[in-house]
Amino acid sequence: MSNAVASRRSIRAFLPEPIDQSLLETVLRKALRAPSNSNIQPWHVWLVTGARLEALRDATRARSVVPPAFDERPFPVYPEPLEDPYAARRFHCGERQYAAMDIAREDHDGRLRYVYNNHQAFGAPAAMFLFIDKAAGPSQWADLGIYLQTVMLLLTEAGLDSCAQISWSVFHSTVRAQLGVPDHLTLYCGLSIGRADPHAPVNTVIADRADPEEILHILKD
Ligand SMILES: Cc1cc2nc3c(=O)[nH]c(=O)nc-3n(C[C@H](O)[C@H](O)[C@H](O)COP(=O)(O)O)c2cc1C
Repeated sequence: MSNAVASRRSIRAFLPEPIDQSLLETVLRKALRAPSNSNIQPWHVWLVTGARLEALRDATRARSVVPPAFDERPFPVYPEPLEDPYAARRFHCGERQYAAMDIAREDHDGRLRYVYNNHQAFGAPAAMFLFIDKAAGPSQWADLGIYLQTVMLLLTEAGLDSCAQISWSVFHSTVRAQLGVPDHLTLYCGLSIGRADPHAPVNTVIADRADPEEILHILKD
């Protein structure tokens, strides 16, 4: 599993070839061993492939344009305002991708169109959608992240690529309606799943990390 931790990275352009359905289902089932506070397992998971995923892309394509016609977001993705160091890290994350795609800073619409590729699941042949009960609190949301990471690592171990996508939250009602998800659940994020397009410039991005000294406080006697 430590190899998977080191080698997993977000892939933002996928080959269209379908992935063996039983492999996908095995990963999602194995990940159900993820821990959660008091073992309440607050995750609700939908897996979409083939015609259903295509229908979802169709439902968002014409609305994911400049200017967009999004659903109202169910929750703010960042605090307003987002302060440093988080704002700087977020900026850097985006800049690395725009540079790889050769999209200039002043090309505002081009940048938005790039971001809106999220809603085509980056061309992936499979997508997982992760939902949580509307009544859930911060501890349950953290549990969801643990399930998500467990899935991503198991996918890496199985030779598959993925990208978590909170960007789907701008289409939360649409996703819910398309997949038949009950009203009491909120969409946390999507996860595009497939095999990386080896020729896509965006897939050359390897996100760096903050200096460990900024984060780790190791107290010694
Ligand atoms: C919960 C979550 C949501 C994310 N949402 C998006 C997204 O909407 N679009 C995107 O391109 N990347 C998204 N990412 C990927 C992050 O940008 C990525 O994990 C981070 O830049 C570190 O890069 P790495 O995954 O390649 O290590 C998300 C990651 C997580 C964990």
